[in-house]
Amino acid sequence: MYGGGTIFESKGYRDLSQEDPEKLEAFQARIDRGEKIEPTDWMPEMYRKQLIRMIEQHAHSEIIGALPEGTWITRAPGFRRKLAQMAKVQDEVGHAQLLYSAAETLGKSREEMINDLINGKSKYSNIFNYPAFTWADSNVISWLVDAGAIVNQMANAKGSYGPYCRALDRICAEESFHLKYGHDAVVHLATGSPVQRKMLQEALNRWWPPLMHFFGPSDKISVHTEQLMRWKVKMATNDDIRQQFLDMYVPKIWELGLTLPDPNLKKNPETGLWEMTEPDWEEFKRVINGDGPCNKERLAVRKAAEEKGAWVRRALLSPKAQYVQPLA
Ligand code: COA
Repeated sequence: MYGGGTIFESKGYRDLSQEDPEKLEAFQARIDRGEKIEPTDWMPEMYRKQLIRMIEQHAHSEIIGALPEGTWITRAPGFRRKLAQMAKVQDEVGHAQLLYSAAETLGKSREEMINDLINGKSKYSNIFNYPAFTWADSNVISWLVDAGAIVNQMANAKGSYGPYCRALDRICAEESFHLKYGHDAVVHLATGSPVQRKMLQEALNRWWPPLMHFFGPSDKISVHTEQLMRWKVKMATNDDIRQQFLDMYVPKIWELGLTLPDPNLKKNPETGLWEMTEPDWEEFKRVINGDGPCNKERLAVRKAAEEKGAWVRRALLSPKAQYVQPLA
């Protein structure tokens, strides 16, 4: 129990006392009218800071999220699955690029963001700190993690900050393809041999608890939701998005004859809401703060990639690079 309080620290994201009240009011009125805020428009510092925090974490999640599925490219069963897996992983890295660009419009450089990621200062999604032991784990990520991401991002694509919304529109289009790919791969295993079904069920059991964490802490203990919803950066609460996901995907999972590792999971016919065992928020907090099963490994891979790629960036940014002729 958290006594109605939060287990997360609020790190000074709420103080609007330094802002001009008239400007604040006009800004809120623009948001309430459904207008988009663009990078050169006036915005409260907290709005800027919150967006940088959220978009940056999202970008890091895409780039780190490419790693568990990336490890399965070489071991994907068959050439067609390999091609699709590779394309999906490339898309995820592309999403990170779009999101880093959107965050840069708010004044934080890409270099700073990457440094904050590899130094452990910035967060990224909890879910990518778990291992993909089998091909089925990779398929569960492709289907259900991408499904969860779409539910969140389709909502937030209607939000207030123009560059983030435009990036989300593009990302959601690609994620919808990933979702179909993941579903197809899961159906293949679910309708396959007993060994394939067992492998899939075990993967689902492993991914379900982190997936319930993925949507963020419950509304009772979420720190940022209230302000972010007022500013239409978030268009639904964490619990609302979790409920939407359960509504859309639990029936599809059960349809495949699979089970979920929560004996309390059921839809209450009176409230229309899914009831479930309260996720372990202490585990969630540990994982997002660096102490999950794969945090160290993920950051080490990212750091190595950054170091190995340094010469490319140096070469591209060198004044001599302008003399390099493009290939005909
Ligand atoms: N993984 C890692 N950290 C998470 C998280 C998750 N799944 N959910 C919440 N947190 C962190 C928050 O970042 C915050 O920490 P901070 O103050 O140090 O930044 C803390 O837990 C409290 O959560 P909350 O107040 O609910 O944060 P929020 O209002 O930003 O909501 C999200 C969390 C993930 C729902 C929201 O940031 C979001 O929609 N992000 C964009 C989409 C995204 O990043 N998807 C992930 C991968 S595709």
